[in-house]
Amino acid sequence: MSERTLVLIKPDAVRRGLVGEILARYERKGLTIVAMDLRTIDPTLSDAHYAEHVDKGFYPALREFVTGGPLVALVLQGDQAIDVVRAMNGATDGRAAAPGTIRGDLSLSKSENLVHASDSPEAAKRELDLWFPGL
Ligand code: CMP
Repeated sequence: MSERTLVLIKPDAVRRGLVGEILARYERKGLTIVAMDLRTIDPTLSDAHYAEHVDKGFYPALREFVTGGPLVALVLQGDQAIDVVRAMNGATDGRAAAPGTIRGDLSLSKSENLVHASDSPEAAKRELDLWFPGL
């Protein structure tokens, strides 16, 4: 079944010049880019997006990082896109992520882990409404 998922190519990926590499992987997989926007977000959007993490110890540093430079927000669509994109991204910690995944190949960090993707249909709906209202 065709699904949409919200993906963020985070500021570390933009800074490192990896946007093209990451987008190419999603495109080669056969996913469709439905929307895409380079933007620098404010703390309010960070807090809303990471609502389940705002009370955690790592969150202040995460907010600093994710608001600290431009990121690419995109909507990807395709068959089982939510699970497919999460598998392509790999485990949260780039040091543990499997080779062949985006994080496994390109990240050595748990906090600067290059990409975010919705982890369930409920999260996808919430995040798509937050980042691309009216889409
Ligand atoms: P993401 O998929 O964007 O969802 C939550 C983010 O929090 C995660 O990727 C990491 O960037 C970050 N994160 C999760 N756990 C930790 C942690 N223990 N230390 C630092 N950052 C974390």
